Amino acid sequence: MKYFICIVFSVLFLANCFHDTSKNESISNADKTKYLQEGKKIAASTFSTLGGNLQKAMKEGGVANALSYCNLNASPLVDSLQQLYNVDIKRTSLKIRNPNNNPTNYEQKQLMAYQKQAASGQKLEPIVKKINDQIIFHAPIHMMPLCLKCHGKIEEQLLEKDYEHIKNLYPTDQAVNYKSGELRGMWSIRLKE
Ligand code: HEC
Repeated sequence: MKYFICIVFSVLFLANCFHDTSKNESISNADKTKYLQEGKKIAASTFSTLGGNLQKAMKEGGVANALSYCNLNASPLVDSLQQLYNVDIKRTSLKIRNPNNNPTNYEQKQLMAYQKQAASGQKLEPIVKKINDQIIFHAPIHMMPLCLKCHGKIEEQLLEKDYEHIKNLYPTDQAVNYKSGELRGMWSIRLKE
């Protein structure tokens, strides 16, 4: 009996630990439309800034030369976008290359929801939510052929010698073996109210 009570209490205690305490508040439809537009605009500008630089750097010096161009934090242009819009721009994924991009509990839930929708053939849509008094924009990120040189199948699109450079910089890398069109992760942009 003692054991039984102990087990029941441990389970209750653990359940409490894993309980998500983030507040999920509602946003009016008009605000939602406004935030969605803003989030899409910022994600698109960031993507074109990164993508343009990435392509240029790969043309000039191959993958080894371009590695730092897929890093939001290393880009002064992304930094100026963050300042211009007064937002916080992040990308995250269920398979991470840089541990600094790890998802929060809430982001992980959204990533899993996107993954489930993708698996059932649904179209993934950007969303906006108010979590703990912050407006957060999410949109899916998919793999394109260019991305595979650094995130694709090892020894096929991602050459062994290039992967060595990646592993040196990111020893815990998980962000490989993707196919074109596959869900890679998502934008997580904190907007101002
Ligand atoms: C030249 C190699 C290279 C190419 C090409 C590349 N990436 Fe990356 N990617 C990286 C590196 C290196 C990181 C880690 C950046 C950092 O330190 O934050 C990264 C990180 C990411 C992340 C952040 C999450 C994580 O795993 O840390 C996403 C999302 C991502 N890449 C998507 C893409 C997409 C989409 C494309 C194609 C448009 C692409 N990448 C093309 C090298 C590349």
